[in-house]
Amino acid sequence: MRLPLDRIGAFAEYVTVDYEAVAKMPHGYDFVTATAIPLAGLTAYQGIVEELEATSGKTLLITGASGSFGQIAVPVAMAMGLRVIVTGNTRSKEKFLKMGVARYIDYKEENYWEILSDIDYVIDTLGTGEFEHELSVLKKGGRLLSLRTGPNRMFAIRNGVSWFKRMLFTMAGKKYDSAAGEQGKEYRFMFVRSDGEQLKRVTEIVEKYKIMPEVDSRIFSLSQINDALMVVAQGKMNGKIIIRM
Ligand SMILES: NC(=O)c1ccc[n+]([C@@H]2O[C@H](COP(=O)([O-])OP(=O)(O)OC[C@H]3O[C@@H](n4cnc5c(N)ncnc54)[C@H](OP(=O)(O)O)[C@@H]3O)[C@@H](O)[C@H]2O)c1
Repeated sequence: MRLPLDRIGAFAEYVTVDYEAVAKMPHGYDFVTATAIPLAGLTAYQGIVEELEATSGKTLLITGASGSFGQIAVPVAMAMGLRVIVTGNTRSKEKFLKMGVARYIDYKEENYWEILSDIDYVIDTLGTGEFEHELSVLKKGGRLLSLRTGPNRMFAIRNGVSWFKRMLFTMAGKKYDSAAGEQGKEYRFMFVRSDGEQLKRVTEIVEKYKIMPEVDSRIFSLSQINDALMVVAQGKMNGKIIIRM
């Protein structure tokens, strides 16, 4: 599961959550592997279904897809009938090509914005530095969803935040909204939330397509939490970092 937004701390042996936030883990998966699925799976599901409102047969670009989000999001998007193009590191190229992505662009070899155009949707995992490039490859009427760049007016409206936060987010996201609007495109931002029903749907996809996320071989204990965070901060992991309780 993904912890509810008002109880987001997960560095604990026990947590209480509403039953509506949970779903059974995929059949035949061990706890360590299954742990790597909910956050990325729910983000992908909410991003594709609720934010992009993507329809089958359209093309989705995911930048930075070689990380722990992409390894779940890419097969989930493909299972939803999207044609998926990704950018990522050299190491993951073979894995994603085997998965059946339409194109894998190694970010150290090629610039996707010099190759791609007329893309229906983009999911950004890289943040502000990529915004202009991601916008440029979108077709008119296309939608760019960022997991990282920052909230905007639409995020505030969709999440029902206070008047003050709405003002703040509107101002913070104005340059992205304006830049997208000028090109007839739309900018979205999201923050994944818990949802047991959606997680059940993700689990069905995971089981059906036998999606197996990579988990870093170093499994940390609760007392090693700082070491685990250091590995994440340095980005030197091979798959999801797991803390064993
Ligand atoms: N808003 C939300 O609800 C939400 C939900 C989930 C995740 N996120 C965010 O999404 C981001 C990505 O998460 P993650 O867990 O997938 O990160 P991650 O595991 O660190 O993966 C990032 C991947 O991007 C690659 N990369 C780095 N620079 C790149 C570039 N210029 N072009 C293409 N690929 C590049 C990295 O390759 P190297 O090995 O070469 O570094 C790595 O494989 C994080 O910031 C996370 O916080 C947000």
